[in-house]
Amino acid sequence: MSITYARLEWDDQGRPLSSTYNDVYFSSLSGLEETHYVFLQHNRLAERFARLQDGDCMVIGETGFGTGLNFLCTWQLFRQQAVHDARLHFISVEKFPLQPADLSRALALWPELDEPAQQLASVYRHLLDGVQSICLDNNRVQLSLLIGDAREQLARLDTRTRVNAWFLDGFAPAKNPDMWTDQLFTQLARLSAPDATLATFTSAGFVRRGLQNAGFTMQRNKGFGHKREMLSGWLK
Ligand SMILES: C[S@@+](CC[C@H](N)C(=O)[O-])C[C@H]1O[C@@H](n2cnc3c(N)ncnc32)[C@H](O)[C@@H]1O
Repeated sequence: MSITYARLEWDDQGRPLSSTYNDVYFSSLSGLEETHYVFLQHNRLAERFARLQDGDCMVIGETGFGTGLNFLCTWQLFRQQAVHDARLHFISVEKFPLQPADLSRALALWPELDEPAQQLASVYRHLLDGVQSICLDNNRVQLSLLIGDAREQLARLDTRTRVNAWFLDGFAPAKNPDMWTDQLFTQLARLSAPDATLATFTSAGFVRRGLQNAGFTMQRNKGFGHKREMLSGWLK
């Protein structure tokens, strides 16, 4: 499989920007806080991780792995909240992966994530070389990275995959309309567990309506930082 890597520029604060989409990988205020606010809080992950019993597995699905920041923050929260014998399976789709050196450079912005970031860096090359799924943290955490277009890759998963919480990342709908399609929303509903929730930084009306048509109840919330609104939802 040939990979098309992300084309990046770096701003004066050392943050990556996509030259392809002309958009940022994370908020200029704080990528870390944005992840916690938008994706972790609005999927109520702290309380859901804390409720897991030994042997339970929580499955998260993400569109757009990018730098892996969302994954690392989720993993860190899981470590803090979940009992030892619970498991986390993080499934992410990425059309234009970062080169390994770029991933490490971006994640160096977060010294507090250094230890899990090093673990990720040590396996990331294998994920690009065709190994689809890798275990971390003494097998408590499984990371599946599907390389390719989100809709196409999710369509290939069978319905034994039951996602409990979705992170709809991916660049702004206005800059990346090809990703935010009804076909994608149909895949999200198809692969959702009955308790599935979702969160996204965008408040675009066509995204909200598309997710409603696919079977999600949607609500508007206050956005992160200077953004007025964001969306969260759950399967009806
Ligand atoms: C804002 S960045 C994601 C940031 C990321 N979640 C993180 O933690 O760093 C958006 C990502 O979506 C990816 N992307 C854009 N369109 C896509 C598509 N159709 N399918 C899969 N990934 C896509 C981009 O390549 C980029 O890595």
